[in-house]
Amino acid sequence: MSPLAPRVSPAQFARTPRRAFNAGPRLTQVQSIDDLRARTHQLMPRFVLEYLEGGAQSEATLERDRTAFEDWRWVPRMLRDVSHRKVSRRVLGQDARLPLAIAPTGLNGLFMRGADLTLARAAARFGVPFVQGTMSNETMEDVARVPGLRHWWQLYIFGPDEIWQALVDRAAACKCEALVLTVNAQLYGLREWDSRQRFGRTLPKPATVLDAAWHTRWLATTLSHGMPRFANVEPFLPEDSRGFFEGAFWIRDQMPKALTWADVARIRERWKGAMFVKGLLHPDDVRAARDSGVDGVMLGTHGGRQADEAVSALDVLEEARAILGDDRPLWISGGIRRGGDVLKALALGADGVLAGRAPLYGLCAHGEAGVLKALVLLETEMRNQMGQIGADTLDDIGSHLLRRV
Ligand SMILES: Cc1cc2nc3c(=O)[nH]c(=O)nc-3n(C[C@H](O)[C@H](O)[C@H](O)COP(=O)(O)O)c2cc1C
Repeated sequence: MSPLAPRVSPAQFARTPRRAFNAGPRLTQVQSIDDLRARTHQLMPRFVLEYLEGGAQSEATLERDRTAFEDWRWVPRMLRDVSHRKVSRRVLGQDARLPLAIAPTGLNGLFMRGADLTLARAAARFGVPFVQGTMSNETMEDVARVPGLRHWWQLYIFGPDEIWQALVDRAAACKCEALVLTVNAQLYGLREWDSRQRFGRTLPKPATVLDAAWHTRWLATTLSHGMPRFANVEPFLPEDSRGFFEGAFWIRDQMPKALTWADVARIRERWKGAMFVKGLLHPDDVRAARDSGVDGVMLGTHGGRQADEAVSALDVLEEARAILGDDRPLWISGGIRRGGDVLKALALGADGVLAGRAPLYGLCAHGEAGVLKALVLLETEMRNQMGQIGADTLDDIGSHLLRRV
């Protein structure tokens, strides 16, 4: 199955009106993340969709991020008291409404003007952390002012040390709760579908421009004030590389390809708060993280956008948990589209999950209300599925309720 094709239900109806996801404007009609995705596909121009949806090369990793969940099936228990179905959990010592954070995604300004602030507001209203990316389009100081926000900062290393040092110091001044160091994107993945939208690096093809111009609503909500800018790193960019595409490629070129655990140790020394390393898969790297002094690990494939033909985080989760022991925070990212996916991750040993595209579909489809809707859907599905499988608290969830099929 192509990862871009919606999953076809086995309940086919011959010669009756075809089923279709709810891509309409009424938020009250939205039933699942698939509906938000369908509307996203209606509203966004093709080059934005390729950026949002695409994976690297053959997109085999992107596909695995979803099929890994399908390989695990529930074996439900009956006659259990499931009257509470509590889904909140402590995250870094504080209550979170779900064991979930909105994942760091760069270039959110392509989806909507002010997108990082919108995601942050929805996360704060709902009650989960928001991880702001180095490649975001709003300043971290502006995002930090969102009332009630649990603000985490995702760090990319590029250019001379002064850049990451300045970003880490600013994140501390903004009282960011956690630093998330992403280590699987020092060399940018070959995202062919994304590249097919352009001649060379920065010149969009005429068809891409025409298609974008056709999407008038997107033009009005996104580009009416010009292309988004890299608000947090702009001062570090050469003056002729501050444009959108130019800035993105300049930063890519400046990312050191020889980053090692010694660099992680230097960042650990400077950042005093909670620190995660994001983007690990190999058990030896999980062992190295355990011994490096970072607080937690986020397994993941960068949404299938980096190494092609890789395993998904779910495939190596139990092994990673065994290495880290019970106490060290272990999160995963990749493929979360249902509340049941969150439960499977918890059952196999995760403390929490990052959701990337799911809240972005909400953002693209309905702005802040759509992001909130995406989070509420995941929560509703988690609570329902817990009832279906006989679990009343998240502590009841475990691998004893799953079979690999
Ligand atoms: C459009 C997009 C942009 C992303 N940008 C970043 C980024 O700047 N930094 C980062 O650490 N991860 C980035 N990621 C990876 C996400 O943090 C997360 O790991 C991934 O989206 C999880 O997969 P999912 O989208 O299936 O939930 C990006 C993912 C997407 C889809």
